Amino acid sequence: MSADEIADAYAEVADGLARWQWLDRLVAGRYRRRQFSSAEGRVLDVACGTGQNFRSLQDTSEVVGIDVSEAMLTHAREELARRPVSGTVRQMDAQRLAFEDDRFDTVVSSFSTCTFPDPAAALREMERVCRPDGQILLLEHSRSDVAPLAWLQDRRADSHYEKAGCRLDHEPLTTVREAGLVVENVRRWFFGLVTAIDVVPGPSGTAEVTDA
Ligand SMILES: C[S@@+](CC[C@H](N)C(=O)[O-])C[C@H]1O[C@@H](n2cnc3c(N)ncnc32)[C@H](O)[C@@H]1O
Repeated sequence: MSADEIADAYAEVADGLARWQWLDRLVAGRYRRRQFSSAEGRVLDVACGTGQNFRSLQDTSEVVGIDVSEAMLTHAREELARRPVSGTVRQMDAQRLAFEDDRFDTVVSSFSTCTFPDPAAALREMERVCRPDGQILLLEHSRSDVAPLAWLQDRRADSHYEKAGCRLDHEPLTTVREAGLVVENVRRWFFGLVTAIDVVPGPSGTAEVTDA
């Protein structure tokens, strides 16, 4: 799917996703808090969707949320208005960020590389706009470590991609490494269905995988 087709797909589901935010908070809220509570300074949330990460950010941060879907951003704007954190949201393609190099102290992104048409391009853009001494924090869904769950994901992968533009069976760590980013730390949660990846802008490194 192209970025425009993905924007259309999310326009159809944005209101429904906003109505079910309570479920997202119940299931993914703890992982968002664990992964994003260390985000500080000027924070870019790439593919922010309805703004579910905003409540995990420190009150002192200033957030800029971008997403290709204006329908999702309508809800992100409302969510931002409810939170103590200051900031703005803007429509933008993650694969061509309209920011100067080294503009942000922290770049966060969640459940996004599965939908980008060119995830490597988007990841390299995240690195470009992040200060070299900053941090890039990713939270992604991933192919489960539990065989029956992974089997289900594989089985639904094609139909889910055609419907929602999301690769159910993708392995975000592979994607991040293929993009040439430096992985500092990886944690897998919830039967391996959720992967948190900390990336450090800089030369190649090796990942340390831990179960927590
Ligand atoms: C599964 S949702 C995740 C939203 C949010 N990050 C969250 O965790 O709830 C994927 C989001 O990626 C956005 N997206 C997909 N492709 C994009 C692109 N090329 N540029 C910016 N946003 C994109 C979609 O519009 C959608 O809001």
